[in-house]
Amino acid sequence: MNPIAKAREAVTHSTHTLPSRRSGGHDTAPDSGSVPVVALCGAAVRVGGRTLWSGVDLRIGSGEFTAVLGPNGVGKSTMIKVLLGALPAAAGEVRVLGARPGQANDRIGYLPQRRSFDATLRIRGIDVVRMGLDGDRWGVPLPFPSARRRAAHARVDEVIELVGASAYAHRPIGQCSGGEQQRLLIAQALIRRPELLLLDEPLDSLDLPNQSAVAALIGRICHQEGVSVVMVAHDVNPILHHLDRVVYLAEGGAATGTPEEVITSGTLTRLYGTPVEVLRTSDSRLVVVGQPEAPAVHTDRHSGGPS
Ligand SMILES: Nc1ncnc2c1ncn2[C@@H]1O[C@H](COP(=O)(O)OP(=O)(O)OP(=O)(O)O)[C@@H](O)[C@H]1O
Ligand SMILES: [Mg+2]
Repeated sequence: MNPIAKAREAVTHSTHTLPSRRSGGHDTAPDSGSVPVVALCGAAVRVGGRTLWSGVDLRIGSGEFTAVLGPNGVGKSTMIKVLLGALPAAAGEVRVLGARPGQANDRIGYLPQRRSFDATLRIRGIDVVRMGLDGDRWGVPLPFPSARRRAAHARVDEVIELVGASAYAHRPIGQCSGGEQQRLLIAQALIRRPELLLLDEPLDSLDLPNQSAVAALIGRICHQEGVSVVMVAHDVNPILHHLDRVVYLAEGGAATGTPEEVITSGTLTRLYGTPVEVLRTSDSRLVVVGQPEAPAVHTDRHSGGPS
């Protein structure tokens, strides 16, 4: 039996539409008049003489939550690097916070992929959070060092509380669980009040309850604090309820739009040039079948991308 037929059998069909996002959300692209937080127009990227993706058009507005999805090795982390200005776009135009990539990095919080702390590391969670501060560039310039110190202390406490890490922030970070470490790292990324958060697989290696909890935390930061979020994810399900926009990458191309527009059998079949079926379980989870490495199923295998 082919994988699509197998999955059809295994999955209970539901007539539900994709779960609707929070009320009062940004359903549409930002006004053409407003400056988007991230704008890609016909963007392409090349590494090691190979084009990973090309022709990517994307506009992300203020306070929007965007997921970057796709198989291992397709270029998701590379897209984050392009937004940070660490790698130039090979074609097209990329603007971040109204400037060239790299020029507004002090207004960006970044969580790189695959972070882990040695269990013997003695540095406390609160110290890791404080490392996110950069005295010269953070906050309102205050004339006296003591006033700066007090403001820094207050901000550290504030973000630790925001991510719900107060109970363990004074423990050595190596002794915190993966979910606790993740929250502390999100606090570090938030400490300088970024306008844009770039998170590379922040749910990686978390169990399902922690994935939901951290996804809800990021959704809250995005929609209540007005911070735009671009998150790389392998499984779209934990964040589906919070998403405004998705970028689905494939070798050579991309599909962008709302989850309802992009995560469909038709769109993904066109994108990958091979039959892909999107199934919905009775509890509204999405299962993507037929794609070489479905983002709903994480594996550590690095393929060369869809063929
Ligand atoms: N500096 C480089 N030189 C050559 N190849 C590179 C370089 N950086 C990345 N690559 C390759 O580009 C491809 C995309 O890498 P990237 O890390 O963006 O993938 P990804 O989509 O984030 O994958 P994963 O899901 O495994 O994290 C990979 O095949 C990788 O080996
Ligand atoms: Mg990656």
